[in-house]
Amino acid sequence: MINVTLFSSRAGNSLRIKSSERLFNILIMIRSPWRYYHCKRVGAYASIIANAIGMSKDQVRRMKTAGVVHDIGFSAINDRILDKKSSLTTEEYTYVKFHPVLGMRILDCYNFPQEIIQAVVQHHESFDGSGYPLGLKGSQISVYGRILFLAEAFDTMTSETPYRHASTIDAAMQSIKGMAGKTFDPDLVNVVLDSQEMSTFCLKKGHPTSGSTGQLFPTDDLYLP
Ligand SMILES: [Fe+2]
Repeated sequence: MINVTLFSSRAGNSLRIKSSERLFNILIMIRSPWRYYHCKRVGAYASIIANAIGMSKDQVRRMKTAGVVHDIGFSAINDRILDKKSSLTTEEYTYVKFHPVLGMRILDCYNFPQEIIQAVVQHHESFDGSGYPLGLKGSQISVYGRILFLAEAFDTMTSETPYRHASTIDAAMQSIKGMAGKTFDPDLVNVVLDSQEMSTFCLKKGHPTSGSTGQLFPTDDLYLP
């Protein structure tokens, strides 16, 4: 069993500072340009959802940061596995599925806020309990984790990646709708379906048809320890 109990021991000890240099150092660990821009877009989508459900300004900022650093655990996984063109072996896939826990451990070393660590370690937990690393279900998953999972899925669906072509925004929204209550929190799905801001951001900055350069938002409004 993976130990994920450490967040509860250090709640409230984080500081907000403006440090784009520190952020850059962290993001560089993600290594791949594709993943770098993916992480920044996920931060934008996570903050849009957080704002739409009425989270405070500080929580919205933390969700944005959680999106930016959500895949930091990949920095601790061998390039041979990450860059592999053929299908992964069962053992390799097990390593890949460990990236949320690796991310949690890295962020804990940097004293990131508890909400951010919780979101990162839970960003592949599915609403029906079929996700990983712990197979948490429904309200066992923090709202931070539920938001981040949805934000990442939307960006993955609407982006051109090394593994698949981008869907249209409408097709992505339909897929997400079909996974409400199974993969995703149904209440959050309704928020995403109603959010004009998600689609607008995607059209301007996320979708390959936007021609965006990846300069998505300033880095000085994030929570960094
Ligand atoms: Fe991930």
